[in-house]
Amino acid sequence: MTDILNEIKQFAAERGLPVLRDAEVPLFQDLLRQARPKRVLEIGTCIGYSTLQIAPFLSPGGTITTLEIESERVDLARSFINRSAYGNRITIMQGDAAALLDTLDGPWDFVFMDGPKGQYPGQLQKIMPKLVPGALIVADNIRYHDMMFIKGHVPHKHRTAIMRLREFIDMIQDDRHFDTVCFENGDGMTVSRWKG
Ligand SMILES: C[S@@+](CC[C@H](N)C(=O)[O-])C[C@H]1O[C@@H](n2cnc3c(N)ncnc32)[C@H](O)[C@@H]1O
Repeated sequence: MTDILNEIKQFAAERGLPVLRDAEVPLFQDLLRQARPKRVLEIGTCIGYSTLQIAPFLSPGGTITTLEIESERVDLARSFINRSAYGNRITIMQGDAAALLDTLDGPWDFVFMDGPKGQYPGQLQKIMPKLVPGALIVADNIRYHDMMFIKGHVPHKHRTAIMRLREFIDMIQDDRHFDTVCFENGDGMTVSRWKG
């Protein structure tokens, strides 16, 4: 397994593909080690690196559904995943996450949000009714290359993503529904426990 993960990481680095940063992996693994999830939803497969980080921590019989819009990345992810021991426990769906989420029933006990940042609030709205109480929602890139902290002029092309990320943070800070912790590792990661 370590061999495949290293291979994917190298492949991603050579092609400039965005996968979990080394600074985020130990935290991610700790969360999974404690959660031992049974039904995982991942948004943003890329080429399967984080998917295969999650897989060894599944409970017996546990499964992952992972969503990716780019068909070339789906094909690469599929080929890596099928070489691992977890091929039969992982379903990759190709398409826009916002649309795919309407077709999925859940329930989820672990969600990894790592797709388009502008969709985070909308995705969370769709996911919330499909979570089991106690489910963990982990969201990556919450610092958005530290542009989240800019008070003045924000480059136009990033404005929507930053606005949506701020909306998302407001949602997960609503303590009627979530207990949330924010980690600075890598590009920033939030971990929210759904209270139901
Ligand atoms: C940061 S990468 C995911 C990295 C992956 N989770 C990992 O750590 O190995 C984000 C991925 O989301 C995909 N993506 C972007 N927009 C999407 C959308 N609307 N629906 C589904 N996937 C999308 C991108 O193609 C990209 O591969």
